[in-house]
Amino acid sequence: MFSAITTSIENAILLITINRPDKLNALNKTVLDELNTAVDEIYNNPAVQSAIIIGAGVKAFVAGADISEFQGLKHSEGMDLANKGQFIFKKIEDSPKPIIAAVNGFALGGGCELAMACHFRLCRENAQFGQPEINLGLIPGYGGTQRLAKYIGRGPALEALLTGNMISARTAWERGLVNHITGSDELMTKTTALLKQITGKSSLAIAKCIRAVGAAFSGEDGYALENQLFGESFGTDDMREGTAAFLEKRLPVFRGS
Ligand code: COA
Repeated sequence: MFSAITTSIENAILLITINRPDKLNALNKTVLDELNTAVDEIYNNPAVQSAIIIGAGVKAFVAGADISEFQGLKHSEGMDLANKGQFIFKKIEDSPKPIIAAVNGFALGGGCELAMACHFRLCRENAQFGQPEINLGLIPGYGGTQRLAKYIGRGPALEALLTGNMISARTAWERGLVNHITGSDELMTKTTALLKQITGKSSLAIAKCIRAVGAAFSGEDGYALENQLFGESFGTDDMREGTAAFLEKRLPVFRGS
């Protein structure tokens, strides 16, 4: 069905692999369209409880938007491209089901932006992050100026954006851009293990956490939203089950209702 990505479902986890290893998984139009479809599946397929995004091959997660598609683009076409990228990445960020980036190498430009749109990131020791668009006479267009500044702070983000220098896995971890650095062979097993731990919880509470934390970065009144979502939790079977299970000293069985 897809030509530039692959997808598979195992243990309710949708694995999305960006599959252009000869081009370091650069995001061309086809990848973006197919990624959009795959993200819709995360939202709409009840058999999917979470997702992992990774790049094919050993070298790159995604080395950016496909530069070969940039030449000859006009002002309005550049804006259309940014709109499309921002739309898909916001859909990833707003997903009520967790989407984790497993960063297996270069995450540059649109690749860094894609990783940052995910709910959190694990990476291999060889991973390198960065927004090198400045070297092309460009700036990031898929949310990179906003999310990088939010993740690592204004000064470090501006340094990365203005120099185009790469950020090592170690520095990314120190600055909170990635949650965990793994050995080369452990990236998928550690990411999958974390997701299995998460998806045993209430899907309703998971979605509420994602939404409330999102508000902390969006300018919404996050405290008011937290208040509302906390209150709503009391109307759920999952909350009744979770609290009853604790009091009865047994494991809860959440049904997402
Ligand atoms: N868009 C299009 N093609 C890309 C690409 C991108 N963002 N990144 C890599 N490729 C292609 C290369 O053109 C090359 O294709 P070819 O074999 O047909 O010539 C192939 O992927 C391998 O890349 P190469 O540059 O030979 O690998 P490298 O190990 O020497 O360097 C990078 C790796 C990541 C440092 C280098 O590819 C690079 O700087 N890429 C662009 C990063 C970037 O500016 N991203 C932001 C884009 S807005």
